[in-house]
Amino acid sequence: MGQLVVQPFYDPARSYQDNFNDGPFGLFATPDIYLDRGEPRQTFLGHKVFEPFGIPAGPLLNGRYVKAALDMGFDLPVYKTVRTRPYPSHPWPNVLAVEIDGDLTLDKTRLTASEDYSEPLSITNSFGVPSFDPDFWQPDIADAVKYAREGQVVIASFQGTKVEGGGLDGYVSDFALGARLLKETGVKVIEVNLSCPNEGTSSLLCHDVAQATRVVTAIKNEIGELPLIIKLAYFPDDARLEELLRAVGGAIAATSSINTIAADIVDAQGNQALPGEGRLRSGVCGAAVKWAGLEMTQKLGRMREKLGLAFSIVGVGGAGSAADYQVYRSAGADAVMSATAAMWHPLLAQEIKGARV
Ligand SMILES: Cc1cc2nc3c(=O)[nH]c(=O)nc-3n(C[C@H](O)[C@H](O)[C@H](O)COP(=O)(O)O)c2cc1C
Repeated sequence: MGQLVVQPFYDPARSYQDNFNDGPFGLFATPDIYLDRGEPRQTFLGHKVFEPFGIPAGPLLNGRYVKAALDMGFDLPVYKTVRTRPYPSHPWPNVLAVEIDGDLTLDKTRLTASEDYSEPLSITNSFGVPSFDPDFWQPDIADAVKYAREGQVVIASFQGTKVEGGGLDGYVSDFALGARLLKETGVKVIEVNLSCPNEGTSSLLCHDVAQATRVVTAIKNEIGELPLIIKLAYFPDDARLEELLRAVGGAIAATSSINTIAADIVDAQGNQALPGEGRLRSGVCGAAVKWAGLEMTQKLGRMREKLGLAFSIVGVGGAGSAADYQVYRSAGADAVMSATAAMWHPLLAQEIKGARV
């Protein structure tokens, strides 16, 4: 416990744009290249890796961040979710610590924000999934993909954008276009963020089985054999999750879960902490959501077996130490990723690799 003294590679005190232009910070700014010894012996989606551990979609804003993560020994870095067109970020602040005692269970619907980044650390992140134009991110991703050394794989995340007047068909077509643009970069694994709001509703796309299935089918039609990971939110309803797996479980290469868990975020006076419309409710990640990532990992493992499916399971949520990595692997995760903790623990991958040795 105590205030974290390490400088995070994404700096919450600066705007998204400043982080994008000037980051990453701290040890990620001038990384010493971590070299694994020997041959990569583990496998993730058909690729050899030294350790199936990485950073999920979000904190790695562009190719410089992805390259720094690779240098620091994160073998599975995910390039932040992109869109088929430029899309603005929510205004600063985009990251705040939240005060919470223990787990963020679903009955805790209101949390107080703070700037006390103490451990165990949980934060809210509120960006609105900004994106630059494909003219920027296509070459940037292609370059980062080539930078990976033996035993490392860069993953690229994307999501569809609602098109004015385009309805459901336009939304699904935008996912297909995003998949095509990503495939052109030469990336070897694609992740689609299905834990985004659904077209025309405030619920999540992954919780709408029919729509999520249309989206996955459209993407697979574009990318063929290229492995597809679906990023899922926490599912409170087991039957719904099983229904989704029955529908898409044969088409996907892997699941990645969880994303954030939403709560109302207020300041010390009880007012909305993040400025602007629609930002009272905001996603929370870090230590307090580990229970949900682990629960999903276990549930997905059980359902995979029951349904005779073969997809891999990426465990995400509150993984912040070598011990957490082992807990996730023991719970059935084929790979593990850390966003919040990794931002403040740039040596996390090396700690995990060191613990294994
Ligand atoms: C700064 C930040 C930005 C994020 N942006 C995205 C994103 O663009 N797409 C996405 O699928 N998830 C995003 N996430 C969610 C993470 O991928 C992850 O699912 C979540 O933070 C839980 O992991 P953690 O507890 O290790 O942080 C973001 C998380 C953080 C901390």
